Amino acid sequence: MSPEAKVLEALLREPRLFPPPEHFSQKANTQETELFKIKDPEAFWGQCASLIHWFKPWERILEWDYPQARWFTGGTLNVSYNCLDRHLGSFRRNKAALIWEGEPGDSCVLTYRDLYREVNKFASVLRSLGIKRGDRVTIYLPMIPELPIAMLACARIGAIHNVVFAGFSAHALQERINDIGSRLLITADGGFRRGQVIPLKDNADLALQNAPTVERVIVTKRTGHHINMQLGRDLWWHEIMHTASLYIEPEPMEAEDPLFILHTSGTTGKPKGVVHTTGGYLVGVTMTAKYVFDLKEEDVYWCTADIGWITGHSYVVYGPLSNGATVLIYEGAPDYPQPNRFWEIIEKYGVNIFYTAPTAIRSFMRWGPSYPARHDLSSLRLLGTVGEPINPEAWMWYYIHIGRRRCPIVDTWWQTETGMILISPLPGETPLKPGSATRPLPGIEADVVDEKGNPVPPGKGGYLVIKKPWPAMMRTIYGDHRRYVEQYWSRIPGCYFTGDGARKDADGYFWILGRVDDVINVSGHRIGTMEVESALVDHQAVAEAAVISRSHPIKGQAIVAFVTLKEGFTPSPELAQELKEHVVKIIGAIARPEQILFTPELPKTRSGKIMRRLLRDIAEGRALGDTSTLADPSSLERLRQAYAEEA
Ligand code: WT7
Repeated sequence: MSPEAKVLEALLREPRLFPPPEHFSQKANTQETELFKIKDPEAFWGQCASLIHWFKPWERILEWDYPQARWFTGGTLNVSYNCLDRHLGSFRRNKAALIWEGEPGDSCVLTYRDLYREVNKFASVLRSLGIKRGDRVTIYLPMIPELPIAMLACARIGAIHNVVFAGFSAHALQERINDIGSRLLITADGGFRRGQVIPLKDNADLALQNAPTVERVIVTKRTGHHINMQLGRDLWWHEIMHTASLYIEPEPMEAEDPLFILHTSGTTGKPKGVVHTTGGYLVGVTMTAKYVFDLKEEDVYWCTADIGWITGHSYVVYGPLSNGATVLIYEGAPDYPQPNRFWEIIEKYGVNIFYTAPTAIRSFMRWGPSYPARHDLSSLRLLGTVGEPINPEAWMWYYIHIGRRRCPIVDTWWQTETGMILISPLPGETPLKPGSATRPLPGIEADVVDEKGNPVPPGKGGYLVIKKPWPAMMRTIYGDHRRYVEQYWSRIPGCYFTGDGARKDADGYFWILGRVDDVINVSGHRIGTMEVESALVDHQAVAEAAVISRSHPIKGQAIVAFVTLKEGFTPSPELAQELKEHVVKIIGAIARPEQILFTPELPKTRSGKIMRRLLRDIAEGRALGDTSTLADPSSLERLRQAYAEEA
């Protein structure tokens, strides 16, 4: 049995069941609403739409012309109005919207009124630079208040933002800018990470050497180190904000107007610009933030994801702010200056809801329970995870050492493309099984099927699909609608194809098994094998590269690259190091291969296709599967020996 199959066996026999604690259920948001009694999905979403403010009411809930969905057509709204203006008429006006803590220990609090003022001012700056409805704006910022301010300001005037994670390289930034033709780039001099400065403006300068659509750059000062400001192009945030107006009318957007584009990795070398809309997206994230996280007026809510990922868009910025919640944002690393930083922050601010990734939990486990044990974590009442399957061991550790056996855990399954959580427990209602994201949320119809779309029996593996449209679903891939139709709606007849494998158990609980395509999930971040391969062959020494993943105790999966060199280059540890750095330069640190393995040839079929399956077997130390289609079986034996020596 393969190691994955063994883990799966153990998972499916996971006997523990945690019923919702009574103290939680009694006060759960789900108990106070009739919403979940509505069984018809469309009617349900129609009701959810009243969680947000519409300037003009929508006329139709859904127009579904497979695979094109249009939600809440005829309605107009503005996302920044929903996240800001609508809270100003109540006590929320003076409530903390953002509690921000910088990595060096500086901090600030912005009330809803403060955030409203800053967003209006920045929206006025955008207007004064000629940015208008439909224009694309790239945001390349660290986790500082300017990031949500810039996003909300774009939303206010109807500009489409494209946030590029600050850990991405100059090259990755350039690729994304050019993919969508941004007119403006918003960045910072730098950001802090483990006490080091990330040179964001230097990266931006490099990226802009070949990004002709960008007219202006707005730079906010964070680190204060010396940077180059290009006359006529670059503007300081603090200088242009001086003359900004205090109020900008929120643009009434159509429900289907795009709100943002966010790139994610797919199975080709080119990241996909996932397009999300205004109305459906806001309805989806507002409902799920309210009920999956059980947000209460007095809560301090902390999602540790970087805003540069979808988790940050939906559950740091839009979902919680639309609900008028208090959101904590922390700029830096969990182990800086010490591995107790997160627990210190929870104690310092009295955090009630904490949402993080399994990979982080596995790091906490490795650092040991003495770090959280030193802190008063009694304010916590709900925990969440996202990004990858959580192993029951990590789930139990989280439950015991962080939640102190009091807090339900919501294991939330979703994707950049889905925009919102689709499979998750409802806290206070759903009994939990460690390692399972439990069941689809109300309004969501998910299933596990074979290639033809037939449901597979309980306990059997298959493809995870979604069978009905949902409001926050992506509408297209920017500039490549065909790829949208082909990749998501053509693989399994009649269904949205998630790219994940899954099983259902006898209780109808979903157990996510991970990606079934050429996408690797490293520490909850998606990386396309092709992207890493193209980065490797971009190096002068590399002839060919095949990238696969191997299971990793902390990261979930780690990147292993098999590389053949061109004539005149010889394998060496130095060259391996150089190739790793090259990948970091082209993509960013998240894509750094764990291991580079030089080999004189790669195992190929007679038609010349690299047999990745066999490479995976080698990397996992498994017996080799079927090798009968291999052109030269002896090459594989040599490769296996080389790998064994290396390891
Ligand atoms: C992929 C999506 C939006 C979430 C952050 C990552 C994996 C996500 C879970 C979970 C098992 C999960 C899937 C999915 N994934 N959440 N709770 N249990 N797997 O977003 O980068 O778009 O990646 O992350 O494989 O397809 P993303």
